[in-house]
Amino acid sequence: AASIDAARPAKNVEGTPRPGQARASSYKVAILGAAGGIGQPLSLLIKMSPLVSHLNLYDIANVKGIVADLSHCNTPAQVSGFTGPDELAASLKDVDLVVIPAGVPRKPGMTRDDLFNINANIVKTLVEAVAANAPNAMINIISNPVNSTVPIAAEVLKAKGVYDPRKLFGVTTLDVVRANTFVAEKKNLRLIDVDVPVIGGHAGITILPLLSKARPSVEFSQEEIEKLTVRIQNAGTEVVEAKAGAGSATLSMAYAAARFAESCMRALDGDPDVFECTFVASEVTELPFFASRVKLGKKGVEAFINDDLQGLTEYEQKALEALKAELQGSIEKGVNFVHKQA
Ligand code: NAD
Ligand code: LMR
Repeated sequence: AASIDAARPAKNVEGTPRPGQARASSYKVAILGAAGGIGQPLSLLIKMSPLVSHLNLYDIANVKGIVADLSHCNTPAQVSGFTGPDELAASLKDVDLVVIPAGVPRKPGMTRDDLFNINANIVKTLVEAVAANAPNAMINIISNPVNSTVPIAAEVLKAKGVYDPRKLFGVTTLDVVRANTFVAEKKNLRLIDVDVPVIGGHAGITILPLLSKARPSVEFSQEEIEKLTVRIQNAGTEVVEAKAGAGSATLSMAYAAARFAESCMRALDGDPDVFECTFVASEVTELPFFASRVKLGKKGVEAFINDDLQGLTEYEQKALEALKAELQGSIEKGVNFVHKQA
């Protein structure tokens, strides 16, 4: 599978097509949690996409100012605002892609799982609305803990009879973005050339960068591998600690989520060359959900790139086995949460 630079827009911001590409802006996107630390810069980045015709911003906080502000950018997307539960259904009408960054972020000393009690309910409520109003949309879940919120979303969609596992994605792109950045820095490579698959989940040891599969092929000492792996796994915490109580990664997350959303739209648009790592329903391992590299197509996940999991190093294989129990527990916690409430 070819690696991609998914962040590269099909046209530049002013709308001039790149050579060989002349796509119409035709996708309708909703962002749920658009007033937040991730939501605002993500809204800006998606407003810049030439593939977007309509951008619906929803939050329980007022989004009027954000809409007024963004609507002055001379890019094609028409921006509309929706505030509070009474306007949630309207924000989802006819959308192709729903991106969900709603929920509370970590403070120093917390794990992502500490967010479960608040964010599980938020994701459940929002996905119920997606099921009722945009049952065919692709759904990108950012809200943590992703290892549980994606299974929650799946159970909600199943209960409503509209679950399409190919269209539900946990956004783990930030792990790939970080791995690419740290490897390029360490090895003095051009950033644009580096692509590291990151598999597993999105919390602590469940984040497993496959440095042996990095492109271009790079030689690492065992010490370098261990240090880089731990840094990638703890990069979220690095930001949480640096922000010292003011939240977690927002700008790099918005960048990563915009890349993933753009990849979804390119896939919808028929681009035959869209590959991303993402946390999805999976048979790649014995776990029901797993992050790995997939090929995206018009209907969502089109194929799993199983090659990534072949020929792992002993270190990677051990780390893969070690992450399974935690990931399984987080998945079950999400599933049980929905069933207990049913
Ligand atoms: P934030 O507090 O700045 O923003 C959250 C937004 O969600 C707020 O505007 C809030 O009003 C809104 N919100 C809360 N409840 C809502 C509801 N029921 N409906 C709609 N909107 C609602 O937080 P943030 O920094 O933007 O982070 C958001 C989430 O993303 C957190 O859970 C965080 O852990 C997660 N996150 C995930 C990744 C990842 O890699 N997947 C990376 C960074 C952050
Ligand atoms: C991240 O990886 O930055 C996010 O999951 C936010 C966090 O809590 O670390």
